[in-house]
Amino acid sequence: METKNRLDEVAVEELATRFEGKGPEVVIQWALEHFHPRIVLASSLQAEDMVILDIAWRINPDVRVFTLDTGRLHEETYASMERVREKYGIAIESFFPSREAVEALEREKGFYSFRQSVEERKFCCGIRKVEPLARALKDRDAWITGLRREQAVTRTVLRKVEFDHSHGIIKVNPLADCSEGYVWDYIRTHGVPYNALHDLGYPSIGCAPCTRAIKQGEDVRAGRWWWENPESKECGLHVTPVETGQSTA
Ligand code: ADX
Ligand code: SF4
Repeated sequence: METKNRLDEVAVEELATRFEGKGPEVVIQWALEHFHPRIVLASSLQAEDMVILDIAWRINPDVRVFTLDTGRLHEETYASMERVREKYGIAIESFFPSREAVEALEREKGFYSFRQSVEERKFCCGIRKVEPLARALKDRDAWITGLRREQAVTRTVLRKVEFDHSHGIIKVNPLADCSEGYVWDYIRTHGVPYNALHDLGYPSIGCAPCTRAIKQGEDVRAGRWWWENPESKECGLHVTPVETGQSTA
């Protein structure tokens, strides 16, 4: 097992180096050719995910897409899912949290426990996002995300191809080195449908009670868990190599 992972890591590192400076189309084409149908696109229906979905769909209209439906998403996000269904003919696979876990969470801690502390917030994210993600990635060989290095201090070391030690599969981040400008240029040029919240001052969109619009000049993720420090603003979907004690080199 250890040997396999080490070998995989060498190949992954070579690929990441090869794709540095290459456009998202090249990375997505490679990923779909190698892994489809055992690869899934993780979509929260944010602008980045819509760009990847559009590129992937043009390469392979059977691309598989899933969303973690936490039960606390915005109405606008559900409307975006429906537009994906209409425009692309893609049935997004929803993964819900465990019913028992959410019932216990709400019964024992109330409906806004995530505001009490980082621990309570991560507890809620654990139930509503992290555990369902593990189910979504079960029996898959790879997943694609819309992560970008510019988004956060926690994402600056992101590679375009990584070994995801939490799930034991390959993780592909085709937009790792793309700017926000690139994302919006692509959306406008290709007429890609996007979440209506983006026009209301939400550059980054998560769950409704944990996301607010930002003011001009604020950081793009300032509206996510706005009561927390930037260093803690990860929900556990994306564990960095530093957090797992793995070397990125
Ligand atoms: S988060 O960790 O802070 O919530 P962010 O909102 O920046 O992550 O999204 C980064 C990427 O994680 C998205 O581009 C998408 O690939 C994945 N992702 C985030 N939220 C979800 C979700 N609810 N369902 C599926 N994928 C998601
Ligand atoms: Fe819970 Fe907020 Fe995390 Fe959504 S973003 S899972 S509501 S803590």
